[in-house]
Amino acid sequence: MKDSAGLEVAKMYGSNAEGLETLIDRETLHRRVDELATEINRGYVGQNLVLVGLLKGSFVFMADLIRKLTIDYEIDFMGIAGYGNMTEHSGAVRLLKDLNVNIEGRVVLIVEDIVDSGLTIDYIRRMLLARKPAKLELMTLLDKAKRRAVDVPIEYVGFAIDDVFVVGYGLDLAERYRGLDYIATVDIPDGQNE
Ligand code: IMP
Ligand code: MG
Repeated sequence: MKDSAGLEVAKMYGSNAEGLETLIDRETLHRRVDELATEINRGYVGQNLVLVGLLKGSFVFMADLIRKLTIDYEIDFMGIAGYGNMTEHSGAVRLLKDLNVNIEGRVVLIVEDIVDSGLTIDYIRRMLLARKPAKLELMTLLDKAKRRAVDVPIEYVGFAIDDVFVVGYGLDLAERYRGLDYIATVDIPDGQNE
């Protein structure tokens, strides 16, 4: 994912949030994350829930979510990387780190930063379903539904967004901007996304 075009764009914008435009401000973002945590608290009482975060993008979202949870839960992470360039998905996904926990018979909620083409989450869902969880559901902070290439069921969506490239709150452009405490759009100039 770390291609040279992406790095060039990131350098152009610098690491000081220049060239970024706020899409979801901090207050709106955190209010919605709190609401999503409330939905988990209501929806998974007594289910010994396993939250599965997909690295790296989901770690900030996951961290904020679990601090609002009042039910019993366990967290684990999977490390994955897509092949292809910065914004277009080739469809292939590489597993960099598998779960530590055995999810057979467990209630699992995948926690994702963004669903774009849906290819990543489709791949992960198939892989996890093969392990026979009692239930497998998905929560994504952001949903770019217009970009969907494959149909994936999503139980919880934070925000539906248009077809724009976003950074912040765990999401990166060539590894930058993950620490922004809001969601911003980045304009990727034509020809840079090769
Ligand atoms: P999908 O397989 O096309 O759904 O892509 C999902 C992955 O692509 C996400 O988990 C992100 O890592 C990355 N991605 C998709 N859209 C964006 C974006 O707007 N900003 C940053 N990363 C993105
Ligand atoms: Mg991701």
